[in-house]
Amino acid sequence: MAEGLWYFSPTGTGRAVAEGLEERFPGLTLHGLTTPEERAGAPRPEAGDRGTLIFPVYANGVPELLLDWLEELPVRPVRWVLIAVYGSVNRGQALEECARAVTEKGGTVVGAAALPGPHCYDCVPGVPKRTNAWDWLALEAFYRDVKERERGICLPPPGAHVPQRLMAWLCAPPPKRGAGCTGCGSCAAVCPTGGRGCIRCGACVRVCPTGAKRLVFRTPLPLWYIRRGMAEEKTAFFQK
Ligand SMILES: Cc1cc2nc3c(=O)[nH]c(=O)nc-3n(C[C@H](O)[C@H](O)[C@H](O)COP(=O)(O)O)c2cc1C
Repeated sequence: MAEGLWYFSPTGTGRAVAEGLEERFPGLTLHGLTTPEERAGAPRPEAGDRGTLIFPVYANGVPELLLDWLEELPVRPVRWVLIAVYGSVNRGQALEECARAVTEKGGTVVGAAALPGPHCYDCVPGVPKRTNAWDWLALEAFYRDVKERERGICLPPPGAHVPQRLMAWLCAPPPKRGAGCTGCGSCAAVCPTGGRGCIRCGACVRVCPTGAKRLVFRTPLPLWYIRRGMAEEKTAFFQK
């Protein structure tokens, strides 16, 4: 039976992990959840399935757009492997929050991993290139082990965190269309919100072929916070 892997990945780190797992573990079927169209069209896991869910850490938690998708899942006993990729600052409580969301839908978490990666704001020079070969060795061993001998795991319940819309608002105004916009529509095609309520993920900035889209921070605080946190990047795996 094909096994599903769902990923929400506005700036591509999680998608690269998903594709790496697909290459290493034949039989996985990938489903994107990044854009509104993808979320609407993605199949839901069936009762008894094992599914892998890959997502970025946003403001120490799970991206709200993904929580909304999880909220709409039917109640089914699905065994989940959760993989949070984060910008090497802080994995926060994203795994715990996601575990709670899937458990509320009748699921069980059989394995969870947090992988440090490059921060999508690209503002720190000299950040080590993650996910690197060592991360992959560890991730592969973890994933194989979970598949072969899965057992339930228990993550602590999540605490409070900063609302993501508020954080986004404090950090940066939505990326502006600068001079040079040709109206090609690449930005609209990758926008995880479908253009309503910018979450400051920076996906549009990355795909803009002329550099007309720019994300500008209101204060130097986010850059300071990110640089400060970078010293502590860690990979973490949770299994019984
Ligand atoms: C709105 C927002 C909030 C973020 N919050 C965190 C955070 O709390 N901790 C962290 O380490 N990285 C944080 N990041 C960085 C992302 O987790 C990181 O870049 C991740 O690899 C992006 O995944 P993707 O490329 O699959 O979209 C944040 C990024 C955005 C856009």
